[in-house]
Amino acid sequence: MMRGLKGKVGIVAGGGRGIGAATARRLAEEGAHVVIGDIMEDWAKDVAADITSKGGSAVGVHLDGTSVESQQAIVAKAVSEFGALDFFHSNLAGGTVGDVNALDCSLDVFDKSVAINAKSHLIATQAALPVMLENGGGAMIYTSSGAASGGSSWQVAYPMAKNAVHALSRHVAAKWGKKGIRANVICPGLVLTEAVQQHMTDQQVESGLKAVPHVRLGQPDDIAAMVAMLASDDGAWINGQVYHVNGGTQMRD
Ligand SMILES: NC(=O)c1ccc[n+]([C@@H]2O[C@H](COP(=O)([O-])OP(=O)(O)OC[C@H]3O[C@@H](n4cnc5c(N)ncnc54)[C@H](O)[C@@H]3O)[C@@H](O)[C@H]2O)c1
Repeated sequence: MMRGLKGKVGIVAGGGRGIGAATARRLAEEGAHVVIGDIMEDWAKDVAADITSKGGSAVGVHLDGTSVESQQAIVAKAVSEFGALDFFHSNLAGGTVGDVNALDCSLDVFDKSVAINAKSHLIATQAALPVMLENGGGAMIYTSSGAASGGSSWQVAYPMAKNAVHALSRHVAAKWGKKGIRANVICPGLVLTEAVQQHMTDQQVESGLKAVPHVRLGQPDDIAAMVAMLASDDGAWINGQVYHVNGGTQMRD
């Protein structure tokens, strides 16, 4: 168990499946109250129902992370349902269709990727921070990707947008650290979510595994554990950092 997570209130944006869903479950197991937001409202509600059926505390709501109103609504929901907002896991992603090399990536594809993979995190920050500051502090936890630093040859917009989130996190940490805000980034390596498993061939899984100096590929729970740590009091002195959780695929300072 992490210290100080019991009774805390948090949002998981993009928590309907994959890493976000595993994180919502882990946070609830730790005794946190979790508001799960997803553009697929049914998925968010299903994850919340599963959590509450096991004795946890969660609610699932519709969220369009690219919308100011929707992000403000999910923050308001956390406060009205559970009375506070202590952490926000800004985790959703998408907009990768048509995202190829820099010469062939259309600017429409680029704009869409930036809206989902960078701007949504700023919108989340703008919605959450006023409430956290009023409460005396809180934790922003952003999901980026190993692709941000991996030098991908086949995709340009996604890694550019993810790097922007690193800058956002450092900005938030530097500007509001003295007011009790912490902001950190997690860069997952290849994680075998439902969606990844559906789309990858056995051959791709095998070559993914070859690239990891570890006995297995990532599981959503591996990332959930890092979110739980960063949201908890065990992460109290961690601010403005980027954590690669990847079984050692990229080794970085
Ligand atoms: N799975 C991996 O291998 C991997 C690797 C590196 C980084 N990541 C990052 O981890 C995070 C989670 O990825 P995942 O693999 O669990 O993805 P996923 O597709 O399984 O889950 C993402 C969730 O976000 C939701 N979503 C998409 N657009 C949204 C929007 N506009 N508003 C609200 N919700 C929206 C989706 O409906 C989905 O439930 C992402 O930021 C992704 O870039 C994943």
